[in-house]
Amino acid sequence: MIILHVFSVLNLQFSIMAFKGRENFGRVGAVLAAAGSAVGLGNIWRFPIETGRNGGAAFVLVYILCVIILGLPVMISEFLIGRSTQANTAAAYRKLSPDTQWKWVGRLGVLTGFLILSYYSVVAGWTVEYAGYALFNTFAGQHDYKVMFNDFAADPFWPVLWLFVFMFVTHVIIVRGVKSGIERVSKILMPTLFLLIMMLVFCSVTLPGSGAGIDFIIHPDFSKIDGMVVLSAMGQAFFSLSIGMGCLCTYASYFRPDTNITRSAINVASIDTMIAIMSGFIIFPAAASAGYTLTAGDVGPSLIFITLPHVFQQAFSGAPILAYIFAVMFYVLLILAALTSTISMHEVITAYLSEEFEMSRKKAARMVTSACAFLGIFCALSFGLLNGFHPMGKTIFDWFDFLSSTILLPFGGMLISLFAGWHLNKKLMYDELTNYGTIRIRYFKILVFILRFVAPIAIGFIFLNETGLFDIFR
Ligand code: PHE
Repeated sequence: MIILHVFSVLNLQFSIMAFKGRENFGRVGAVLAAAGSAVGLGNIWRFPIETGRNGGAAFVLVYILCVIILGLPVMISEFLIGRSTQANTAAAYRKLSPDTQWKWVGRLGVLTGFLILSYYSVVAGWTVEYAGYALFNTFAGQHDYKVMFNDFAADPFWPVLWLFVFMFVTHVIIVRGVKSGIERVSKILMPTLFLLIMMLVFCSVTLPGSGAGIDFIIHPDFSKIDGMVVLSAMGQAFFSLSIGMGCLCTYASYFRPDTNITRSAINVASIDTMIAIMSGFIIFPAAASAGYTLTAGDVGPSLIFITLPHVFQQAFSGAPILAYIFAVMFYVLLILAALTSTISMHEVITAYLSEEFEMSRKKAARMVTSACAFLGIFCALSFGLLNGFHPMGKTIFDWFDFLSSTILLPFGGMLISLFAGWHLNKKLMYDELTNYGTIRIRYFKILVFILRFVAPIAIGFIFLNETGLFDIFR
């Protein structure tokens, strides 16, 4: 027994020795960086809206189950694939399975990251404009928030400028590297974000008349749960946890060999879920206090850019200074959340280019930033100048969104679980999860079962449902 233990420790030591040269995250930094990727616009606008549409507390419960049963196993797989290979996501699959077609899973992730980054940065840019409105108190005295938003989004100049600014800031952080760029920024931004969100929750739940909003997210109405609710919860869990495109795999390639993968995954998933639920505690109580019921029309950007400015003004109509502070904090929160996510997508592509084509990190980052900013211009202009351009019924922005988030992400998630469940060497998986026998895990068999059967089938359903090919539960 003792000999076995010594052997395990030696094994771990060897892998620590082999782990030289590559930059790495500290233990806390690893969790904060991965949580930064996961926590994003998806938590703050998409989660509350999905909750609103799917029956409140019942949806939240189904969502939590999806995170535990499906999200965690896929996240753990991405972590172990990245950490064991210490390479960018394309090289990771190639190393684990040389001479097979599995390398395409990694490459697909890079492509997905590229597409998401291009349109996500446009919305991230809007949050900068809105933080400016909040700061200069432009919301006060507005009558029509919809016209305000549409006029801004259709403008040929400002949305493009903010897109460039956002890409530039992301670029600067990426160029500084893994430790002094990504890790340092995550260590500052994530606690700030947490503090802001706690203050916003406090303000929102103490508003007069906020009770109905609180009730909505804590008292489940189980009659609301049907197939569609489950599918929406699964789709939301994948997007929100940043699973399916190699983001977490790339970050895990910077994890140290003694990082506890299981614990890190649980921490990241809990932080992400907690922040999503807290966003619900900001939005529903404030909306209830303003006498506003969120409807299906509040989907997407319109919630944060049209409905919420209105809700904030109404909710705090008795104390305009509070409306001002609340709005500033909220839009700053959005900027921070979006930034830590754009950084993670940028890193996937930068690591890929610099390692696969042996170019400097700086050069690779420059290529990613210019290419994404260039594509982003078309996404930004599709709300104005290019508004009439609808190839096959969708604007350019909608195409980017649809292709990446609706098709490629779930597809990537499914391939990852099939790869880990069926193809990957189980001893390697076990060694990675136990850090060569130095920690104990008890869930290995369940993990493999979920990866083999449950996750691919469930994701297959999300995929078919979201693409509309297979409207099963209607
Ligand atoms: N998880 C991020 C969010 O909630 C979005 C994202 C998806 C980031 C995929 C990276 C990769 O906004």
